[in-house]
Amino acid sequence: MSPPIQVLDIPDHLRPFADDVLDGLSKAQKELSCKYFYDQRGSELFNVICELDEYYPTRTETALLETHGAEIAEILGPGVCLIEYGCGSLVKTRCLLDAMQDPALFIPIDISEDHLIRSAKALADDYQDLKVIPVVADFTDPVEFPEEAKKDCTGKRVGFFPGSTIGNFERDRAVQFLKVVAGQVGEGGGLLVGADLKKDENVLIRAYDDSEGITAAFNFNVMERINKELGGDFDISGFRHLARYNREHGRVEMHLLSLKEQTAKILGRAFRFREGETIHTENSHKYTLEEFRDLAQAAGFSTVKTWVDEDDLFSVHYLTVD
Ligand code: AVJ
Repeated sequence: MSPPIQVLDIPDHLRPFADDVLDGLSKAQKELSCKYFYDQRGSELFNVICELDEYYPTRTETALLETHGAEIAEILGPGVCLIEYGCGSLVKTRCLLDAMQDPALFIPIDISEDHLIRSAKALADDYQDLKVIPVVADFTDPVEFPEEAKKDCTGKRVGFFPGSTIGNFERDRAVQFLKVVAGQVGEGGGLLVGADLKKDENVLIRAYDDSEGITAAFNFNVMERINKELGGDFDISGFRHLARYNREHGRVEMHLLSLKEQTAKILGRAFRFREGETIHTENSHKYTLEEFRDLAQAAGFSTVKTWVDEDDLFSVHYLTVD
């Protein structure tokens, strides 16, 4: 019998990352969760991606929120409690808050405490009448609506989930997540959600394989994190960034493709790669308007209104709990 595998001692806070990595790389189709893209450097790279010509979602969605801000604000009404799932740069949030009629409360939920507290403070400084209650949590977990927030919220409870982040979930998981949101905002509550649309595959691929190689660096960042934080010995130059459209699932997939037969060691375990084998690092599902409405309906939401840009690139939906 071979001796038990010795997993090297690592600090507690790295345990979930380590477990996910070892688990993901042990699968037949190797995979790493896209949530590990976003350390400091990954978040910076993502912000650069958002500015790229080829990456249309950010500017298109921001323009939709700006153009239709008054109408959105009218539908949401006064005294809203806005709950944001995952807290990015808050540019879109500010855009929405600027259009809204005296929003009462803002509850950003994010796993990264430092980033969350810093962003929430900056926002609270700029919106003096808005009460801000940051919640440190994985936004996919069913977080209870904070008790202290109930009295402040005179209007609707409205979730905000921009960026087509919902596209990261497989369809069943997206429905599951929307059900959690429906439970949080409750009857009469709503969700303002951005969803990237199906379109010419070349346009999609270019958005995830830009000419400056920023998305490639973003993808490789997870491998660099494994090397740095878990003492991995990935030969980064032995892999290449791959973005491809999976028609069956209607999604762009990102992978790291092994250019040769090789082995990487992580925490005392060896992972073998064949030439051409990939690590699947992200799914980005694309929806037609009808597919998205069906998805929302499966979670108990009705679509009140949908906004789309004139090039049919991106959609923003306002959903309410049935
Ligand atoms: C943050 C999930 C919206 O899927 O388009 C950008 C992440 N990945 N380029 C997306 C991403 C590669 C992005 N989301």
